[in-house]
Amino acid sequence: MHLFLFLPLLSLLLVPATSDSFKSYTCDSMSIFSSTTTGNYTANSTYQSNLNTLLSDLKANSTGTGFAAGKLGTAPNEVRGLILCRGDLNASSCSSCLSQIFTDILSSCPLYKTAIMWYDNCYVQFSNLDFLSLPDNIPLKLFVKKKNLTVDQTRFFQDVSQLMTQMASVAISNSTKYFATGEVKNFSTELSSIYALLQCTTNMPKSQCQSCLQSLVNDLPGYSEGKDGAWLVGIYCNIRYDTIPFYNGAAMLQIDSASLSPSLSPSSPPGVNDGKKKKNTAAILAITISLVVAILSSTTFCICLHKKRQRQREKLISEMINPGHNKENIDSFLIGLTTLRAATLNFNESNRLGEGGFGAVYKGILPSGEEVAVKRLSQCSSQGLGELRNELVLVAKLKHKNLVRVVGVCLEDQEKLLVYEFLSNRSLDTFLFDKEKRQELDWTRRRSIINGVARGLQYLHEDSQLKIIHRDLKASNILLDADMNPKISDFGLARLFPVDQTINVTRRIVGTYGYMAPEYAMHGRYSVKSDVFSFGVLLLEVITGKQNGGSYDAEMGEDLLSSTWDHWTSGTITDIIDPMIDGPVNEIIQYIHIGLLCVQEDLKDRPRMSDVAVMLDSNTISLQAPSKPAFYLRRGGGVSGYGSLNNMVPVSQNEVTISEFKPR
Ligand SMILES: *[C@@H]1O[C@H](CO)[C@@H](O)[C@H](O)[C@H]1NC(C)=O
Ligand SMILES: *[C@@H]1O[C@H](CO)[C@@H](O)[C@H](O)[C@H]1NC(C)=O
Ligand SMILES: *[C@@H]1O[C@H](CO)[C@@H](O)[C@H](O)[C@H]1NC(C)=O
Ligand SMILES: *[C@@H]1O[C@H](CO)[C@@H](O)[C@H](O)[C@H]1NC(C)=O
Ligand SMILES: *[C@@H]1O[C@H](CO)[C@@H](O)[C@H](O)[C@H]1NC(C)=O
Ligand SMILES: *[C@@H]1O[C@H](CO)[C@@H](O)[C@H](O)[C@H]1NC(C)=O
Ligand SMILES: *[C@@H]1O[C@H](CO)[C@@H](O)[C@H](O)[C@H]1NC(C)=O
Repeated sequence: MHLFLFLPLLSLLLVPATSDSFKSYTCDSMSIFSSTTTGNYTANSTYQSNLNTLLSDLKANSTGTGFAAGKLGTAPNEVRGLILCRGDLNASSCSSCLSQIFTDILSSCPLYKTAIMWYDNCYVQFSNLDFLSLPDNIPLKLFVKKKNLTVDQTRFFQDVSQLMTQMASVAISNSTKYFATGEVKNFSTELSSIYALLQCTTNMPKSQCQSCLQSLVNDLPGYSEGKDGAWLVGIYCNIRYDTIPFYNGAAMLQIDSASLSPSLSPSSPPGVNDGKKKKNTAAILAITISLVVAILSSTTFCICLHKKRQRQREKLISEMINPGHNKENIDSFLIGLTTLRAATLNFNESNRLGEGGFGAVYKGILPSGEEVAVKRLSQCSSQGLGELRNELVLVAKLKHKNLVRVVGVCLEDQEKLLVYEFLSNRSLDTFLFDKEKRQELDWTRRRSIINGVARGLQYLHEDSQLKIIHRDLKASNILLDADMNPKISDFGLARLFPVDQTINVTRRIVGTYGYMAPEYAMHGRYSVKSDVFSFGVLLLEVITGKQNGGSYDAEMGEDLLSSTWDHWTSGTITDIIDPMIDGPVNEIIQYIHIGLLCVQEDLKDRPRMSDVAVMLDSNTISLQAPSKPAFYLRRGGGVSGYGSLNNMVPVSQNEVTISEFKPR
């Protein structure tokens, strides 16, 4: 049994006590973990009669221990339940608490298949789901009192923690009830005693009870928010402290505060000679620092663990609630190879739309009549099956009007096929870099294309659940629908990156020179800011109607960034605007300005996509002056900041290899 806590969940469940007693309930309580409901039963149904019988059986079975858990009936009318009385209650008090809570839960949560209710003295939980098989102790509820502690909190929680740790040993020493009460005496003149209680359900070995309690104890100071009383309840164990007595009888364990290890205090007793004092202070400081470091690193570790476990938990519970749900989701995305062969006339040359990154693209018509574009990833593609599956999961979740919709995927017979919606107007480059077709792109269209791409990219970077870096944004990856709305395609290169880590060093460079930020092209370091760079290049291409040739080699084409910068600094910027566009000059210059901000050499200077979106939307905002773009070719040759062209290779060939070197 893994024992853990997850902070976000608990903070949602924090219940301030209105009086000195704690009382609360949650109907449909599995919805705590998942958005799905377990539903309702109907009046006088089998489920209802099973539930009633179960509750009275549990009550009968709890005699002597105050605990029972079990199930009754057969699916779909199977009910599971758990009850627990506080360990200090005598049999009659336990029995009356249970009778009362049963009545109360059934009237507070009428017809709910799943519910949970807590009283000061007992609690009950039932569900059609097998919550008893959950591998972890889920902390379900945190009750805190309203009053803040007025005493030294650090010392207070040190004492509580030490008391509870010793109480845990007392609790497991008796297998009839894993239960203990405790008291810290003589805490201070202000606070004579601290009272505590802890208890496990008895359906587990002693060692598990101990670790269940310990994990709650460790997290208690963080949860209790410095209040003068708190109760942290999990499925299998719970702990509670208060500054006033709240349990029956004398504490099973009593400790004088003076006997607990003293807190670290930087003040030395007076009268110590100077040399010794310094030494002491240094030692204490060293201890304090190492403690702080230990606490910080363990906190970070715990939070990561919590997040991971929380995800596992959510998956588990959503699977319990909705068996086969996730699998179905993936299945619904799979399209059979036979279907796709038929749809593309067996990948007929005449259906071929073109060659994109990683493979050829074919037009197809599915049996439903839907037109699709099928990307056939080439065998020699560097993208492995695992990566492809990643892409599938990623793209399946990404929905935005400026992203190409993924219809399905096929992983059969060595074939790796991605099926996208078909967009009749193909890609942006077919318009932009074609003399004839470029005329169809007036300023209104170009502006809406730039804005749409910005929104799609912002979604990938900042708004989607998965933070995604595209890494190969370019005109041929912008598809246009019948109304010329832009949609970003090919986020197969995108990969998940941890939320707290914005810069990854890739082992392999993908992407297209000309659009690649210097730090990515040369060191393989990509981040959202390298996508912003590509966006800047794209924006300038849309406005000038010229392709950025890749600035490394004059033969590859015009160096758009250098020429834009030259015109910008010499005050002739209107010269670079595509003569075929007819918009308000101020607005177009504003756009160029934004483009230049995106292609700045230092990635820290480049705006984020959300900033870009704001700038594009506003014509009153005053923009920062751009600094020189990356790859600016000085007169007389040489690339700014990066030495000669021959140095344009990754630092270490072992760590970085270039698999897609495809200058446009
Ligand atoms: C269950 O019943 C309650 C009222 O008793 C109602 O508020 C709730 O919406 C119902 N839930 C479902 C899923 O039908
Ligand atoms: C359920 O049974 C009770 C008692 O037998 C009856 O009074 C009530 O009308 C029934 N309810 C339904 C919905 O059948
Ligand atoms: C009550 O205890 C009996 C005997 O141990 C057991 O067979 C039965 O399943 C228990 N009932 C429940 C609801 O747990
Ligand atoms: C059980 O405990 C309650 C409350 O502490 C007390 O009033 C009652 O007399 C006790 N009953 C027995 C049988 O000891
Ligand atoms: C308790 O302390 C918190 C901050 O620690 C403060 O915001 C709150 O107002 C205090 N409440 C009372 C009742 O003093
Ligand atoms: C264990 O706890 C039960 C109930 O509180 C009590 O009756 C019994 O005497 C205890 N046994 C030991 C060995 O302490
Ligand atoms: C703790 O307090 C009690 C009275 O409440 C007193 O008799 C005892 O001496 C105190 N212990 C210490 C160590 O101060």
